[in-house]
Amino acid sequence: MAATNIHPEFHRFLGREDKERLLDQQGVVLWLYGLSGSGKSTIANLAERALSQEGRFTTILDGDNLRSGLNRNLGFSDDDRSENIRRNAEVAKLFAEQGIITFVSVITPRRDLRALARGIIGEDFREVFVKAGYATCAERDPKGLYARAEAGQIEQFTGRDSGFEEPGDEAELVLDTDTHDAEECARILLDHLSGPSGS
Ligand code: ADX
Repeated sequence: MAATNIHPEFHRFLGREDKERLLDQQGVVLWLYGLSGSGKSTIANLAERALSQEGRFTTILDGDNLRSGLNRNLGFSDDDRSENIRRNAEVAKLFAEQGIITFVSVITPRRDLRALARGIIGEDFREVFVKAGYATCAERDPKGLYARAEAGQIEQFTGRDSGFEEPGDEAELVLDTDTHDAEECARILLDHLSGPSGS
């Protein structure tokens, strides 16, 4: 139910244009999603460092980090994942509105969740699928989670007993980490960002 006693203030505050002029850049949200271990955070980290060296102001909103603070009361049920994505999208939107180039690195396993994030963030939203098969991610297993899931120690594990829906045409960029290394993927992402549709 919409609250009737909340009065958001926007017009009195310093506007987005002022922030973007100060930073000499435009805010955007690069929403990187895919299985755990697909390479989202690695790519975001490499891309962020490259942009930083060019004098760009950036941030990374990482699923694990957000789940240890803002989202610490959420688990991995369908409803909790929806709430997780809703909150992350609201935070990403706030960052982008300050002119910040914002990388989001969260599994976002369902199309409706990506649509939810897109709906909240609007035209700043860039949907980037970080593609790697379950077998590849299980082999990399950087956090040891796949082994634990296979041993029955983690419930609702994405790609195993909780679904992951690959995108159709709605992903504007697909970074395939089965066939490209993380440096190549970061370069493709940055090229996309500075290209005609991304700038
Ligand atoms: S999402 O599905 O709600 O988008 P999110 O990206 O925030 O997921 O969190 C995923 C991270 O939580 C993984 O990278 C992993 O480290 C950890 N994790 C713990 N349990 C699970 C689980 N059951 N499924 C997936 N990831 C899990």
